[in-house]
Amino acid sequence: MPTTLITGANRGIGLEISRRLAARGDNVLACARAHPPTGERFEPVELDVTMEDSLAALSTRLDGRALDLLVCNAGRLIGRGGVDDPAYSAEAFAEVLAVNVTGVFMTIRACLPALRRAKGRIAVISSQMGSSARAKGAAYLYRASKAAATNLSVSLSKELGDEGIAVGAYHPGWVRTDMGGGGAAISVEESAAGLIARFDELNVANAGRLLFYSGEEIPF
Ligand SMILES: NC(=O)c1ccc[n+]([C@@H]2O[C@H](COP(=O)([O-])OP(=O)(O)OC[C@H]3O[C@@H](n4cnc5c(N)ncnc54)[C@H](OP(=O)(O)O)[C@@H]3O)[C@@H](O)[C@H]2O)c1
Repeated sequence: MPTTLITGANRGIGLEISRRLAARGDNVLACARAHPPTGERFEPVELDVTMEDSLAALSTRLDGRALDLLVCNAGRLIGRGGVDDPAYSAEAFAEVLAVNVTGVFMTIRACLPALRRAKGRIAVISSQMGSSARAKGAAYLYRASKAAATNLSVSLSKELGDEGIAVGAYHPGWVRTDMGGGGAAISVEESAAGLIARFDELNVANAGRLLFYSGEEIPF
């Protein structure tokens, strides 16, 4: 059965993707910085994507193993306001970029030997809020971080495509989670079902794009 590693698997979209993949028989390395979820076909892994020692422990755990899919789902949002929102401190920038950008890159690097063994695929959960083509004011820090996350996916797809590893970026929709809020448009079930269908379709020929969970391409 395929093996998938997913970050931020303890709640929200990450938990629902993990549950669905395990339910269809995949082995899921379910990563969380604290209390990773457990269950049948779940391998709980403690992983903080911003901590070098945590990433090094992940590399060691994956020694000699093959990974069919990596889902970089862990994400952080600070500040939803306009330019004067006091939430945009230098500390907040460091924190959000550490998770949404550095964390994505370092997780991919830690998993790369295992992905190479299976010619696996990489899915980065980004956001259409990072699309410059669809720019709006507000949430500047989050938007900038997701623009960078999409950019990383597209650039990595060029290099890794040559060795058969496909990389895609995805917008999960506006989802009812702690981050999306109770008034968001769709449920985690709808988002996760769509995202998994997109991951299943991902290959080197269609990689390097930003896709809505339901499949439409989003200009970035
Ligand atoms: N919800 C939406 O409407 C929406 C829309 C567009 C994109 N997204 C993206 O979709 C992804 C999942 O979002 P969500 O709505 O499910 O968010 P969420 O409910 O806020 O969950 C965020 C997840 O990321 C984890 N995380 C944060 N910092 C981490 C770190 N340093 N190391 C490891 N894990 C970390 C959290 O773990 P803890 O429990 O330990 O904090 C949690 O599991 C994110 O990348 C988000 O940006 C969401």
